[in-house]
Amino acid sequence: MIQTIRGFRDILPQDTALWQYIEKTASEILENFGFQEIRIPIMEKTELFARSIGESTDIVEKEMYTFADRKGDSITLRPEATASVVRSYVQHKMHSQDPVQKLYTIGPMFRRERPQKGRYRQFYQINAEVFGISAPHIDAQLILILNELLKRLGLSGLKAHINSLGCPECRPHFQTTLTAFLEDKKDHLCEICIKRMERNPLRTLDCKVPSCREALEDAPSTLDHLCTGCLDHFNTVKRLLDVQNVEYAVDKTLVRGLDYYSRTAFEILTDALGAQSAVAGGGRYDALVSELHGPEIPAIGFAVGFDRLAEIVAQAGPKDAPPTLSPEVFILPLGEDALEHGYLWACELAAAGIRTEMDFSGRSLKSLMKRADRLNASHVLIIGQREMEENSLVLRNMKTREQHPISMDNPVGRIVSIVQKKLNQ
Ligand code: HAM
Repeated sequence: MIQTIRGFRDILPQDTALWQYIEKTASEILENFGFQEIRIPIMEKTELFARSIGESTDIVEKEMYTFADRKGDSITLRPEATASVVRSYVQHKMHSQDPVQKLYTIGPMFRRERPQKGRYRQFYQINAEVFGISAPHIDAQLILILNELLKRLGLSGLKAHINSLGCPECRPHFQTTLTAFLEDKKDHLCEICIKRMERNPLRTLDCKVPSCREALEDAPSTLDHLCTGCLDHFNTVKRLLDVQNVEYAVDKTLVRGLDYYSRTAFEILTDALGAQSAVAGGGRYDALVSELHGPEIPAIGFAVGFDRLAEIVAQAGPKDAPPTLSPEVFILPLGEDALEHGYLWACELAAAGIRTEMDFSGRSLKSLMKRADRLNASHVLIIGQREMEENSLVLRNMKTREQHPISMDNPVGRIVSIVQKKLNQ
């Protein structure tokens, strides 16, 4: 038997109703807030991710699916969507129409991480990116949107963690202070943090190794080194969240695993999946558009981990259960003639918008009724020899046990009106 690759999985039909429900809820909210959908390729030139996510990040160093195509060009399965959305914004000069663009995209990403519950090598994200707005209001609004999404999906108790990572003006100064602090604590740091010290000192702040956590307990925080612009920006974000009653915690250890961030960074954390993990993460990346050869345009966005979200929603039980896709009409033909009639009506009913199923096995009425029950059909139409001769088919409502006589002239129209009337009640 050929099985899926490690870390890759099927989303089976029993789960897709929930996935579609989450996707629909997210698109609705995002569209209400002015976002439009964009669809981007699954593969890009490796250089795009290396340059935007950062050469010394775990993603670029260890986790990308990168290979040479037949011509020898290095291509990569996207580990995230932000870089591609920025590439698209710049490539299609979207800024020349209007620098303000709000774009969302939903789809699979690929990272070669160690698989575990809530962590896969192919996983899905709901991404939202906003270009052209530097006002802190949009930072607060994105956190509010995440909050709204979680609320609508029936999740409570998930709080945003927020931090400010500073900007090119104040960050270098902070990094010098941090590096001096790390030098002092060098003997207590893990090997990875020793390497990070030189290449990416900020990343030491969220190291999970207990000895590092202890050594870094009173490490300097970006928040104490923000320039006036960054401080004002962060204070306004917090004030707006307070005004709108969005719960959050300021978390000075939150640094994010991608290098493009500046100013506001945020994550929504949960321990519902075993070890603490993020259901969503995002932040400002004001320099990325120009780094990818676009104009100087600020930007900010987030990504929700779809797989994790679906797992938590399933655990919590969604507020409005997603509709199940059981048949509205299940046709049970008994005999050759009935099979052909049933087949033609089944096609017409489905084309008329009624979810229809029929059985082709030619088995006994008893076993067909059992199947109708198993499929949770709301109505069955029994077509037997006698019923056809007497021109009196019966549409039976499986819940109320109501029986509707159906004439053989125009049975489809009659069934459609009975089923639709029921649905509208
Ligand atoms: P990220 O924090 O790397 O950010 O990923 C966002 C979310 O994707 C995570 O919070 C997590 O829920 C989910 N995720 C990440 N890796 C996995 C995995 N291996 N298995 C399952 N879920 C996973 C970004 O990707 C940024 N592009 C977000 C962003 C958008 N920032 C600005 N705009």
